Amino acid sequence: MKQIPMLDLKLEYEYMKEDIDAAIKECLGHQRWILGPEVKELEERIAKHIGVKHCIGTSSGTEALVLSMRALAIKLKGQEYFDKTDEIITTSFTFTATGDAILRAGATPVFVDIDPETYNINIDKIREHLTRSGKVVGIIPVHLYGQACNMDEIMKIAKEHNLFVIEDVAQAFGGIWNSKKLGSIGSTGAFSFFPSKNLGGFGDGGMLATNDDEIEELARMIIKHGGKDKYNVDHIGYNARLDTLQAAILLVKFKYVEEFNERRRKIAQFYNEGLKDVEGIILGKTLPEAQHVYHQYTIRILDGKRDKVQKHLKDKGISTMIYYPVPLHKMRVFESRMKVSGGLKESEEATKEVLSLPMEPLLEVKDLEIVIQEIKRALV
Ligand SMILES: Cc1ncc(COP(=O)(O)O)c(C=O)c1O
Repeated sequence: MKQIPMLDLKLEYEYMKEDIDAAIKECLGHQRWILGPEVKELEERIAKHIGVKHCIGTSSGTEALVLSMRALAIKLKGQEYFDKTDEIITTSFTFTATGDAILRAGATPVFVDIDPETYNINIDKIREHLTRSGKVVGIIPVHLYGQACNMDEIMKIAKEHNLFVIEDVAQAFGGIWNSKKLGSIGSTGAFSFFPSKNLGGFGDGGMLATNDDEIEELARMIIKHGGKDKYNVDHIGYNARLDTLQAAILLVKFKYVEEFNERRRKIAQFYNEGLKDVEGIILGKTLPEAQHVYHQYTIRILDGKRDKVQKHLKDKGISTMIYYPVPLHKMRVFESRMKVSGGLKESEEATKEVLSLPMEPLLEVKDLEIVIQEIKRALV
């Protein structure tokens, strides 16, 4: 039986093999594995691409989030970490790293509900929490599945309440809100280069983007043990640098990222057309100000039929995924360490109904047709 995967990284490697092999060979030649020339080049290219002053390569997207908060705690409070009384508002309908990074930075995550149509954080719920609490220091909007949150509103709220904003751009490399590239709008942007991401390496990696010189200086120290050099250490640091080898591979993949994002949009359009009249399904809503990069193409399957549809597709060789089956506020790690604000009904509903379909930029139309046909069959 023909298999249709969620993503086919082997196929993508074949597509750019010559360039990638040459880039790896170049590294083998110079042997500058730690903060080699490719790291600087990637930082500069991405900074230019998204329109920020600084980009700092990190060992993962999670570290880019933690580093953002650690640097902000030092800058704003003169402390290595935030205090438990400091609240950071985010969504519960995300990957665990978003919330976990807040705990690692010493603060308390406050989960507010999502908008059921875009799956992104509900702006009204942010405002509501701010009327109830004076302890909020920042907001972490997550551009889920590759679609921008309403950054105009979020930045307006941040300005009114003197809050920082860290964009979690792990799933949205290349995405845009109102002509601005995501990751360039908040105080910082945290990107992930996990292999399955729109710009993904051959291992872990990430990047912190910022226009703030002080944050840049602090982040550069914290990624390498906390000092300007090894024997002159000011802060509690990590070993959280982006590998030269990953940067070399990412430089090659970066050349293709816009082409691939366009392919993703075409695939999404094809799915939208094919599924728009199918009863029992709700398609994701895209906002006119957002240019979606479809890290995931996610539909909602109603009437408790999601798992049945997923099983049918699996039996037909079609891979799908549930992002996310468990909201963060139901995880033990957050149990005694979080605040829930205003109820999270929509986040909980979404975990029961969402299904992400194959989204490989190099997928062929005939494969997409099979996916659409089998979803229809599963629902009759
Ligand atoms: C929304 C979100 N935030 C953070 C991360 C963490 O990135 P990484 O896996 O590179 O640490 C991921 C992905 O893995 C993610 O999807």
